[in-house]
Amino acid sequence: MTDPTPERRNFYGRIRGKTLRASQKDYLAEDLGPLTLRGVTREENPSRGPVPMEPWREGRPLWLEVGFGGGEHLVHMAARNPGVALIGAEPFVNGIAMLLGKVREAKVTNLRLHPGDVRDLFEVLPEASLSKVFLNYPDPWPKARHHRRRFVTQGYLTALARITIPGSEFRVSTDIPDYVRQTLEEVPQAGFALIAEGGTPWDDWFSTRYEQKALREGRVPHYLTFRRT
Ligand SMILES: C[S@@+](CC[C@H](N)C(=O)[O-])C[C@H]1O[C@@H](n2cnc3c(N)ncnc32)[C@H](O)[C@@H]1O
Repeated sequence: MTDPTPERRNFYGRIRGKTLRASQKDYLAEDLGPLTLRGVTREENPSRGPVPMEPWREGRPLWLEVGFGGGEHLVHMAARNPGVALIGAEPFVNGIAMLLGKVREAKVTNLRLHPGDVRDLFEVLPEASLSKVFLNYPDPWPKARHHRRRFVTQGYLTALARITIPGSEFRVSTDIPDYVRQTLEEVPQAGFALIAEGGTPWDDWFSTRYEQKALREGRVPHYLTFRRT
């Protein structure tokens, strides 16, 4: 989880939060290694060649969740879709530990993670390799001068467009009206057409920790679906 370049240090929250429970330390010690996608970091892959995914992938369609938080949505999707190989990226160690606990509980094997910045993955996933991408409650960056740090900006989006298959789905959920505005403005510019948006979640949606907090605090979820053109 190294992040050598200063421009990459723009995570909204902290990388490490509350003290980990003993069980979570065990998950990290025992499960993080085997579940980490190899060949993503600069140390492991300095030439930034395509990351090897077989035999784990078994030729299955590949989906990605950006910033999975506590991992509830990612594990739900993995359990529901055994014919799909899922990757999640998240730098927050407490979230990673939570995900690992859920992976043990659900006994899913079709999931790998990158414990770091999703942009590392963008560099090493082959062109047109993802058939679905989830961006659930991305960091809001509420101050106007920080809007350029949001995920829905051209730097992130064009890199994402490169690795998505034409026709693939890109889902965004947020509780921030100004984030909806920026998503509607920026995502189509990167080659994703708007398919649907509104207050009704997808049929297979699993409400995340962040969404639950937003609901408790009276904010209103918004769900947007795009298709890569
Ligand atoms: C507001 S939280 C939402 C977490 C989760 N998706 C949910 O809905 O509960 C945003 C998450 O995105 C992660 N994040 C921010 N920038 C990221 C990046 N460049 N790559 C991967 N994850 C990132 C943060 O660490 C944080 O966990």
